[in-house]
Amino acid sequence: MTTPSSLLGQPISRVDGPLKVTGQAKYAGEFNVPGLTYGHVLSSTIARGHIKKIDTSAALALPGVLHVFTHENRPGTAWFDRNYKDEDAPAGSPFRPLDGADIVYSGQPIALVVAETFELARHAASLIRVEYKTKEHETDLAEQRHKAHSPAPGKGGYEPPPKPRGNPDKAFKSAPIQVDAEYSTPVEHHNPMETHVSTVVYEDDGTLSIYDKIQGVQNSYDYVSRVFKLDKEQVRVRSPFVGGAFGSGLRPQYQLFLAVMAARELKRSVRVTLTRQQMFTFGHRPETHQHVALGAAPDGTLLSVIHETLSETSRFEDYCEVVVNWSGLLYQCDNVRLDYKVAPVDQYTPIDMRAPGAVLGVYALECAMDELAYKAGVDPLELRFKNYAERDQNQDKPFSSKELKACYYQGAERFGWGKRSPAPRSMREGKQLIGWGVATGIWEAMQQQAAAKAVLSIDGTLTVSSATADIGTGTYTVMTQIAAETLGLPLDKVTFKLGDSSLPKSPIEGGSWTVSSVGTAVKEVCEKVREQVFAFARKVHHSPLAKAELDEVTFSGGHIRLKSDASRAVSLTEAMRHAGVLHVEEQAMGLPNPKQMQYTRASHSAVFAEVKVDEELGVVKVTRVVSAIAGGRVLNPKTARSQIIGGIVWGIGMALEEETLLDQKLGRFMNHDLAEYHVPVNADVHDIDVIFVDEEDTIVNPLGAKGLGEIGIVGVAAAIANAIFHATGKRVRDLPITIDKLL
Ligand code: MOS
Repeated sequence: MTTPSSLLGQPISRVDGPLKVTGQAKYAGEFNVPGLTYGHVLSSTIARGHIKKIDTSAALALPGVLHVFTHENRPGTAWFDRNYKDEDAPAGSPFRPLDGADIVYSGQPIALVVAETFELARHAASLIRVEYKTKEHETDLAEQRHKAHSPAPGKGGYEPPPKPRGNPDKAFKSAPIQVDAEYSTPVEHHNPMETHVSTVVYEDDGTLSIYDKIQGVQNSYDYVSRVFKLDKEQVRVRSPFVGGAFGSGLRPQYQLFLAVMAARELKRSVRVTLTRQQMFTFGHRPETHQHVALGAAPDGTLLSVIHETLSETSRFEDYCEVVVNWSGLLYQCDNVRLDYKVAPVDQYTPIDMRAPGAVLGVYALECAMDELAYKAGVDPLELRFKNYAERDQNQDKPFSSKELKACYYQGAERFGWGKRSPAPRSMREGKQLIGWGVATGIWEAMQQQAAAKAVLSIDGTLTVSSATADIGTGTYTVMTQIAAETLGLPLDKVTFKLGDSSLPKSPIEGGSWTVSSVGTAVKEVCEKVREQVFAFARKVHHSPLAKAELDEVTFSGGHIRLKSDASRAVSLTEAMRHAGVLHVEEQAMGLPNPKQMQYTRASHSAVFAEVKVDEELGVVKVTRVVSAIAGGRVLNPKTARSQIIGGIVWGIGMALEEETLLDQKLGRFMNHDLAEYHVPVNADVHDIDVIFVDEEDTIVNPLGAKGLGEIGIVGVAAAIANAIFHATGKRVRDLPITIDKLL
């Protein structure tokens, strides 16, 4: 017999694909129950001040309007801040909807109308009259620079910048070659297809069955049960499918609070759906002002790296993300100073957006490296080899694995980098200036504690579960693969369940850690099932496995077989039948190996971009992108490739299109819809080629997979910006690079 090839590493199509394309996959706003009511949120139109008067009488007079909640009649909730702190909360005092008359940002929810239909609720909300007393607002980050401070740590995963090493300022001043530049990136907003929504089903016994758009059901569950002081059994949160989130669903958002509040007060089922415009009223990728100074020897060898960033936070929380640390890690340099500060403005707290921090800091560093390459007269790719870091100097640790050189080589070869002519404006096709740019990307490879449960049934099916999420990344599929592989079952005998707060503990799906964390738990729990069934199999009458040890058998095709003679086998169901059990059930926890602490663990990429710039019109087309990724073992090249392509497309948006513009007079985001907030469409996306380089890593987790959710976007905007410089000779340091900046 032939040994079946491993399911891990196979480009398996999504196991949830058929449900999605046939419309059977249900999202949070699609769970309907008889008597469901609909809430519509009224948003503030001022950025700061308070509500003097709110007149809801016209709204309430409409037949079918059940209630209007405002700060004047809001039911009481938990007192202490700690109850509102969710798993992704930064330091500070989390926002509480309808808690008093104060307005702290434009777009703040100030009323919830609940009615028999969505349309009625929305219409009724338009009849509410609000009188404000405005206070002067401060929404302009540049003007608040004097309030910059180091954010209080406290947000999971945040590492403040390391202390300076060497003598960076002196080394910079005396460096023969210097790059000293300011870069800036704008506010961006998450625009998943599915807007934020919570359906709260008020059950007959008063318990709440909640369907929430969230990247971690237990985060919503903990939040709701603490804020509303509910017993554990009174709430269950589910989120089997998520229509994109990108970080916007890491924290429970105000629609969840409002829907739960209304359902409890009215003793009715309530759904609150945010409009597209309201998707711009909670959290965003923060604006940054960055200063990068690179000092180098005449051949481009780095002598000094200085990277300082100012970013914004709200007045009520100290948002933080890792923006500058990468600059002390990506290249070998003994003189480094990194600084990251935030200043409060009258906006909502920023929230993680795909590769938070890294995507911003690496953009600036990688553009500065390109500027250095031109000043030193060194090929930009060669410059990266010259300054290659074999060790993490920030933490003075080795990398658990780092195949970045292979990324550079393989990416360059696929792209044809060797044919590049170095001078700006030296490559063209008629009126199209052609530019080629390169950049490096990096993201952390993290593992969190996670749990899983497995039940193997006598009918030969296996159900594995964990309270994690699938935000479109492929969790259902990859977990099914890991479970099927570990127990030697065909994929169609395995079901993976997620998105239910009653399932075993899992962290929020973020940070690219889900395969690493939940995947490890799934592997562990299936190994426990293996041991149990193997013990049964040995006891079967005349068992061919009676004297075998676990390492002398394989699990394949629903059988346990001797490695030395595959025909000698016991089926899993036979083993269970003989043992007289209908199920084998196990629970397990996936824990990070303490040995990880001795290493820096990261995924890397080399991104190559080609642009064509119309010389007369300034129109930029990103005609080709090659991204070579070192992300450890790739468990499913199909879903993995999708993640990287998504990141590249987003990188195109970041480089050329995306920005949320704030009217400083109004203190309000203005282009808050998909007509005016531009993201790449099909016509903007051309040839994208993804390479996964071989990378073995025995440290990151037992699967050797580093996670691929975020690395795809890091470096893309820099590669494109660098290509635009190569094409045009014009260095635009302020994203996005729109036509007006090029002409
Ligand atoms: Mo990602 S920003 O951790 O959803």
